[in-house]
Amino acid sequence: MAIPVLTIDGPSGAGKGTVSRKVAKNLGWNYLDSGSIYRSLAIALLQKNADLTDEDKILEIARTLDLAFECNDELTVRLTGVDITAQLGTEATGNVASIVAAIPEVRQVLLQKQKDFRQLPGLVADGRDMGTVVFPDAEIKVFLTASADERAKRRYKQLIEKGIDANILQITREIEERDCRDRERKTAPLVQAENALYIDSSAMTINDVIAQVLSLVLPR
Ligand code: C5P
Repeated sequence: MAIPVLTIDGPSGAGKGTVSRKVAKNLGWNYLDSGSIYRSLAIALLQKNADLTDEDKILEIARTLDLAFECNDELTVRLTGVDITAQLGTEATGNVASIVAAIPEVRQVLLQKQKDFRQLPGLVADGRDMGTVVFPDAEIKVFLTASADERAKRRYKQLIEKGIDANILQITREIEERDCRDRERKTAPLVQAENALYIDSSAMTINDVIAQVLSLVLPR
């Protein structure tokens, strides 16, 4: 029998990370934050001062990316043994991640790294193409979204809480740009999987969303 997967796709700031982590913890399942793989590649590129128009160089760095993940209450990510968790959440990292994520060969190279997370007893996978490309056979799929304004407000709050300086207007603009790039790219664009449940979390608390997602899995 296939190892069960719950996919949670959606745009930035919809609450996928928090919901996925809590649902995974509640179920005792593994957790894949696929965005952190693209973000780690972005950090590796920024560290090496790589030219973001040099696809061969980007691919070479993607192929040799040495990542280790640890998920307790929060996710810890190590790049070549060094903890990069604190840099993962910045807007600069997210923007570079979204630029390189549009390159089809990069997605291909990072595909197996994501599939490897499918381990017993199950997996909660969060991203943009979890239900459409990486785990198309997942039994349970969610498309989690919220209005752009609400997502910008949440992102702003998250950054301020982490002590990162932020500007709400700039965040709104960057979220809109990122959404546009993620939705309009040719390979694995952000799109709702046919059999995914659509949840708009704009007017919901995070606990309501978690309860709704858990209710999809628990009655089985
Ligand atoms: O989800 P997060 O904001 O961490 O993702 C950062 C960027 O990585 C996204 O804007 C998107 O371009 C890319 N990404 C992707 N496919 C995924 C997860 C993230 O293209 N499955």
